[in-house]
Amino acid sequence: MYQLRLIGYPIKHSLSPWIHEQFLERSHLKGIYKIHEIPSDESFTDHINQLKLEQVNGFNITVPYKVKIMSYLDRLDPETERIGAVNTVVNHNGQWVGYNTDGIGYVRSLESEHPSLKNNRSNTRVMIIGAGGAARGIYDAFLQSGYRLVDIANRTRESADAIAQLNQTGAKTNVKSLQDALNTISHYDVIVQTTSVGMRPHVDEIIIPLQEIKEGTIVSDIVYQPLETKFLKEAKKYGARVVHGHTMLLYQAQYAFELWTGQEVSTAGMADALKNILEG
Ligand code: ATR
Repeated sequence: MYQLRLIGYPIKHSLSPWIHEQFLERSHLKGIYKIHEIPSDESFTDHINQLKLEQVNGFNITVPYKVKIMSYLDRLDPETERIGAVNTVVNHNGQWVGYNTDGIGYVRSLESEHPSLKNNRSNTRVMIIGAGGAARGIYDAFLQSGYRLVDIANRTRESADAIAQLNQTGAKTNVKSLQDALNTISHYDVIVQTTSVGMRPHVDEIIIPLQEIKEGTIVSDIVYQPLETKFLKEAKKYGARVVHGHTMLLYQAQYAFELWTGQEVSTAGMADALKNILEG
């Protein structure tokens, strides 16, 4: 019986329990995935000790505790160490090991919708827009997956420079201003929007206009509220193939489930179901 949890605050409306219940059912494993809210920083240690006593098999951890949890773990996987934030903890025979499945989940979502990318990773020209925590994980995952041309564009150059320093692979990364990104947008095959711009309630905002993209560019936005951001609407209008943010949510969960149980469970049909839930 797998005992799995989600820790964070506030998380009452999280979609993770729905996703993991589906995975448990699909994999024919017995288990339970429960929300465990920790409303204040002060009680964090007590809650974590309780999970240790309960000998849970693993948990997801989300805002605001993705960094705080790190000092409670026995080990971090190397990628997670580079990223500096944990979203998944696995109990390996009593040792708590921290992982971050967001970046790999993102690349899986992208390649599951566009499988031909897998055959051409080293020549695919990628631009990540934004340089926050999400961008960091996604950048690292692109490089670990074999992409070699990955640029980063951000309003604040220093944050993008700091991410580019994660590169230990020989990949080529140009750091750009948003204006420069706009001027060169037609060079890219894949554009990933990772900032919060366009998120509800600011649905009329867009980080940069997309008129100049080339036909067939793959454009994705990790924002999934609303499901179709202004960025994606505009991308469609100018001939892009779009990837919606809720698919990242699904694949980061798939990878976490794999780390806990060793089973790579199919996500068939789940992106559409998730879309229906999000659209109410
Ligand atoms: P997360 O951890 O969820 O990725 P974050 O660390 O708050 O979020 O990062 C937010 C990203 O969105 C940053 O790249 C930020 O740009 P700066 O580094 O210049 O702050 C970007 N961002 C947020 N609001 C923005 C806006 N109005 N215009 C341009 N960029 C914005």
